[in-house]
Amino acid sequence: MTFGEVVALYPTDLQIPAGKTTVLIGPSGCGKSTILRLIIGLLQPTNGHVHVAGGGDNLVALRRQMGYVIQDGGLFPHLNARENVLLMPRQLKQDEAAMNRRLTELCNLTHFSMEALERYPVELSGGQRQRVSLMRALALDPDILLLDEPLGALDPMVRASLQRELKEIFANLGKTVVMVTHDMAEAAFLADMIVLLRAGEVVQSGSLDELRDQPAEPYVNEFIDAQRSLVQL
Ligand SMILES: Nc1ncnc2c1ncn2[C@@H]1O[C@H](COP(=O)(O)OP(=O)(O)OP(=O)(O)O)[C@@H](O)[C@H]1O
Ligand SMILES: [Mg+2]
Repeated sequence: MTFGEVVALYPTDLQIPAGKTTVLIGPSGCGKSTILRLIIGLLQPTNGHVHVAGGGDNLVALRRQMGYVIQDGGLFPHLNARENVLLMPRQLKQDEAAMNRRLTELCNLTHFSMEALERYPVELSGGQRQRVSLMRALALDPDILLLDEPLGALDPMVRASLQRELKEIFANLGKTVVMVTHDMAEAAFLADMIVLLRAGEVVQSGSLDELRDQPAEPYVNEFIDAQRSLVQL
């Protein structure tokens, strides 16, 4: 995937397992968000192709099969939480009772208070906004969930509790999840498979144990150690 002179991704061969959680991790600019945009079809690869099992050629249908939380959440500031979550269901003219049922389910799932649904994004805490973004991505009950740093910019306590909640949600829903993070501990906690990238290339993919015990190159150890030394402060 190139943008003019910029190579965002070198030739990349990556298989993402269905029904599991795959975490993309690596330094800023290594191509994590680009991979999500390619999966959902917002970008067409300059060369090669992206194949989604069970997905046809229809881009609109393909997108509806996927829930996507963009980096920074992407909530519309002029819509309240309820309107943000129900954006797609309304677009598809679902009936009001069904939408309200779904809204209640989603609030329970993400531990979001129903009273806060009337609030606008500026009136919500960071953690609440993240929950609204997640509810919006889940509104149509998609098979595939793409999450771009869904817990970025949260304080460590809220982050830890949302990590536990996400893990529970992923386990309960059994969906195919592709999530981006900068945090190896978060990746280790949530991922069935970790994909470590560097400057547009996949360096290694596998479980944390595999990355730690059979590193493909010294960079893998360096990346894990750099994060570990921070934790030991
Ligand atoms: N539309 C675009 N036009 C030009 N360059 C782009 C475009 N989108 C991404 N890039 C470049 O492609 C590379 C990969 O970007 P990408 O957004 O995938 O990084 P990332 O791994 O998500 O980084 P971060 O952790 O900072 O979010 C970067 O060098 C970026 O500047
Ligand atoms: Mg990004």
